[in-house]
Amino acid sequence: MKGIILAGGRATRLLPLTAVTSKQLLPVYNKPMIFYPLYTLLKAGVKDILIIIAPDYAGHFLHLLGSGKKFGANFVYEIQEEPRGLADAFIIGEDFIGDDNVVMILGDNIFTEDLSEHIKSFSSGGRVFAKEVPDPQRYGVVEFDRQGKALSIEEKPTTPKSNYCVTGLYLYDNRVVEFAKNLKPSARGEIEITDINNKFLESGELDVRIIKGEWFDAGTFDSLLKASVWVAQHQDRWEGFGL
Ligand code: DAU
Repeated sequence: MKGIILAGGRATRLLPLTAVTSKQLLPVYNKPMIFYPLYTLLKAGVKDILIIIAPDYAGHFLHLLGSGKKFGANFVYEIQEEPRGLADAFIIGEDFIGDDNVVMILGDNIFTEDLSEHIKSFSSGGRVFAKEVPDPQRYGVVEFDRQGKALSIEEKPTTPKSNYCVTGLYLYDNRVVEFAKNLKPSARGEIEITDINNKFLESGELDVRIIKGEWFDAGTFDSLLKASVWVAQHQDRWEGFGL
C-alpha cells in the first residue's frame, strides 16, 4: 500500500498565518500539523509516502521531514503548481502509485483514533470514513438508506441529506488513477474526490465506515484552535516514530 499526504493548496482562509508558511506546517499544540496525518499512516505501517506540496515553502517541508529516514519511512515529494482539486493527487502520483493500492490523507486532517486496522485490511474498491458533524454543508456529505447503506455523496450541498461528512482519509485500489484522469472539473473548477467516491459507490464498491473518535479538519481558525486544545489534553496518543 502506497501513501499520499496531500499538503498543497493556498490556505487563504488562514491568512495572515499562511502569508509566511504553509498551513500544514502551522503548529497544532506542540507539533507541525502535518505530523498528525503522517502519524496515522506510519501507525498503519505505511512507509512509502508521497508528500504533495505547493511551490511556496516547499523547502520548509524538506527541512522538516527530509527523506523520511528518521521516521523509519521513505518520503518522496511532488509539487502541485495549482490547486486543481483533491483528485489531482492520483494524477500527480501515478508513477509513485504504480500497480499498488493507495491511501491518501489530507495534510490538515487530524484523526484521534487508531485507524490502522481499517487501513491494513483494505484490499479492493474504495473505503472512506464518515463522521457526524454539526455543519455538514462544509464537506462531502453521505446519504444513507434506512439500513445504513450509503446511497450517494454530495460535495458541499446547501441542503445536506445527513449530518455525516466524508473525512479526509481515502483508500482506493489502483483504478483510482484512471478514474481521476477521466474527471471533469466541477462548478468550482476542481476535480473532486467526491466524484471518485461516487464512481466506486455506483458499482457497489465503496465501503463507508463511521468513525466515533474526534476528528479535525484544521483549516479554519476555530478548528485549528479546537484541535490544539484537544491535542494538548491527549498528547500521549501521538508518541513514537520519531515525531
Ligand atoms: O476535510 C474533509 C473534506 O475535504 C471532505 O469532506 C470534502 O469532500 C473534500 O472536498 C475536502 O473539502 P475541503 O473544502 O476541506 O477541501 P480543501 O479545498 O480545503 O482542501 C483540503 C486540503 O487539501 C487542504 O489542506 C489543501 C489541500 N489541497 C486542496 C486542493 C483543492 C491540495 O493540496 N491541493 C488541491 O488542489
